[in-house]
Amino acid sequence: MNEVGHRMKKLLLLTSGGDCPGLNGVIRAVVKAAEHDGNWQVYGSRRAYCGVLEKPNDIIHLTSEVVAGIHVRGGTILETVNKGNPTAFPAEIAGEQVFIDRSDELISIVKQLGFDAVINIGGDGSHRISQHLFEHGLNIVGVPKTIDNDLYGTDYTIGFQTAVDTATEAIDRLIPTAQSHNRVIVTEVMGRDAGWICLHSAIAAGAEVALIPEIPYDIEAIKAKLKSRFDNGHGFANIVISEGAKPVAGSVVSKQSSEFGYENPVLGGIAEQLASQIRIALDLDVRVTVLGHIQRGGTPNAFDRVLAAEFGVQAFELVKKGQFGFIPVSKEGKIKPISLKAATSEYRVIPLEHSLITSARAMGMCLGD
Ligand code: F6P
Repeated sequence: MNEVGHRMKKLLLLTSGGDCPGLNGVIRAVVKAAEHDGNWQVYGSRRAYCGVLEKPNDIIHLTSEVVAGIHVRGGTILETVNKGNPTAFPAEIAGEQVFIDRSDELISIVKQLGFDAVINIGGDGSHRISQHLFEHGLNIVGVPKTIDNDLYGTDYTIGFQTAVDTATEAIDRLIPTAQSHNRVIVTEVMGRDAGWICLHSAIAAGAEVALIPEIPYDIEAIKAKLKSRFDNGHGFANIVISEGAKPVAGSVVSKQSSEFGYENPVLGGIAEQLASQIRIALDLDVRVTVLGHIQRGGTPNAFDRVLAAEFGVQAFELVKKGQFGFIPVSKEGKIKPISLKAATSEYRVIPLEHSLITSARAMGMCLGD
């Protein structure tokens, strides 16, 4: 009961998809806003929807004591998974691996447990699932997160700015070693099919070449750039390449995960492919650094902490108002709600006319075309 004798409402919080810096900040902000409001109790499911379906007894009560100080920590105290989609849940039936739709079962468990609403902190895949659950009767609100910054409708997702800082710092550290050894260093960054991390970190670190999925690259353009740079007496070069980049008339380097239920192709390896081509074509000393999951870890920077706080508070406001099927986004400096349907209607890549692209070109950066 709350102070005036009404039943306290129950809110379920979960984090789904790949982790990123800032998730804990959202959890803390929701819990603090709910406590301040005085009418809601917040609970957290471990391992996203898998926790609700498989271990509902493990759902934890989140109080301000539990979330104290967590906003400075990377990862998520609720843990996460990027398989276990309730609409196509991996299962073994009669020795066969199959996918079954458990969304109605999930919704009835959430209701049986007495939850009035759910907040799912996720990326585009997670919000597509939320939209489906919303259409099937779940009171759900989303929060945008992913280091990739590829969710449509928002200028920023939680975790992106920290990942850019991490990638930039890594490239900064690679420049002196490239310089000392007269090498070309190729740094592969994450981001799936969007070049946001790549282009931001390449500009921030001052790379000579940035290769993004939005612009398939021509090896001849890269060779010309490196040749003129070395001919002009710059004895080293830095190339930043997105894991999802591909050559003109070539394809993305990826493999299928061996984990049953893991839906996305596992990207990675394009930097090594490019390095071999450069070695053969130009007889240069080339080294590759793949930053990988380092970009997902670490303390969230101030930008992501503030964004996490604002998204958390706004998501709770949407729950209070009963505005389900919505997600707060950051658009032109303002936090505002849009529908989950709109947020998942497109995949957000860098538009070719974006100022990041024109600025990079204006400074002579080679974008591979
Ligand atoms: O979506 C975030 C992301 O880190 C991508 O940049 C990357 O391709 C993928 O997740 C890696 O996923 P996993 O953690 O499952 O290897």
